[in-house]
Amino acid sequence: KNIIHLECVDSTNDYLKKIGNGVQEGTVVISEEQTKGKGRLGRNWQSKSKEGIWMSIILKPEIIPYKAPFITLIAGAAIVKALNNLQVPAKVKWPNDIIINNKKVSGILTELSAEIERVNYVVVGIGMNVKNLDFDKELEEKATSLYKENYCISRVEVISQVLYEFEKLYKDYIENNYKEETLRICREYSAIINKDVYIIKGDEKELVKCIDISNEGNLIVRDGNNNVQEILSGEVSIRG
Ligand code: BTN
Repeated sequence: KNIIHLECVDSTNDYLKKIGNGVQEGTVVISEEQTKGKGRLGRNWQSKSKEGIWMSIILKPEIIPYKAPFITLIAGAAIVKALNNLQVPAKVKWPNDIIINNKKVSGILTELSAEIERVNYVVVGIGMNVKNLDFDKELEEKATSLYKENYCISRVEVISQVLYEFEKLYKDYIENNYKEETLRICREYSAIINKDVYIIKGDEKELVKCIDISNEGNLIVRDGNNNVQEILSGEVSIRG
């Protein structure tokens, strides 16, 4: 396996996007620290300490834009499976958050590299709080780490489990278009199926009940008028 280990970088996603053309598919970049960690929807991701897992994986599937959203689900399934293998009762909050005891422990940021109308590769970034105990004020109530929840597991162990589970699910998807195992994991370990949540899209906010995840990986919900809607992951965030 090709793993690049850095001491410090702005963002492992940005780093991998820069060198992407020159590295083989499956290359993983892990950094001890990030000075400009990025979250979804333009948010920043607190990752200045050496106590978490900040890593990115580069993938080069064909017809990338179409496959990218499902790759996020594969990463979510891999993380939740890896943690449960290690006796951590983690759940996945569609599409990209991993939750323990109602708090976020890990997030996924999938990005496409675009070179004038041609997308060459996809970078899947995974952030996980492992040993960090202190969070910025605004995160305090929403974020946690494995250690904070009393799961004292080494970063190496988590990384190897996550990569192992990810590779299995990803290969099955690319080689056989087999999605069922990812969907099964996302459903079985879902933090939101059968729950009421707010779907937030820009300034709009709608209360819905989550029913299921579709075979394409979209979220199926019932809205206030009792209509069933299918939500695409794109620009939404979900709040409990
Ligand atoms: C989110 O929950 O909003 C996604 C967080 C993704 C964070 C990871 S850390 C490694 C990789 N590099 C980044 O700059 N972001 C991702």
